[in-house]
Amino acid sequence: MGGVAVYPGSFDPITNGHMDIIERGLGVFDKIIVTVGINPNKKTLFSVEERISMIREAIGKNPRVEVDSFSGLLINYVEKSGVHCLLRGLRAMSDFEYEFQMALMNRRLNRNIETVFLMTGARWFFCNSGIVKEAAALGGSVEGMVPGVVLKKLKQKFPGMVKKSGI
Ligand code: PNS
Repeated sequence: MGGVAVYPGSFDPITNGHMDIIERGLGVFDKIIVTVGINPNKKTLFSVEERISMIREAIGKNPRVEVDSFSGLLINYVEKSGVHCLLRGLRAMSDFEYEFQMALMNRRLNRNIETVFLMTGARWFFCNSGIVKEAAALGGSVEGMVPGVVLKKLKQKFPGMVKKSGI
């Protein structure tokens, strides 16, 4: 397919499910711009700076991946970047309705920008930032669900987190 895709999200924090989509995306696109949505009305565990820095560290040096942030309408950001493709990950059916609404709204705002969905690997079907934060906050292990840098940061926020998971 080639070209550039913008991969937007809250990434609060980035999980191995997101990492899987980036990896799969690199098999389809030449370059991916991972962009963190700044929403002042949404309470997040990590600041934008922390989220960006964790994504950068998790990805490492890769000239094909850029990490950025945006506020306001996603479509405005995509238009300014000169990109025509949005990348989103799909897990279970439960993602579908929200993703469908968002893709159609974005298409309504700019019909030249397409949203491309990639399926996460089956092992990440249950993995999302919300469940990771909830488990970590309550002392459960999220080892193997997030990149090492995120695990380290979560341990700092929630020192009660246990070390070993059940798998
Ligand atoms: O990881 P998330 O929380 O599902 O990401 C959602 C995000 C940031 C991609 C979405 O909320 C977004 O695009 N926000 C920007 C506001 C916007 O453009 N809204 C109109 C399209 S629905």
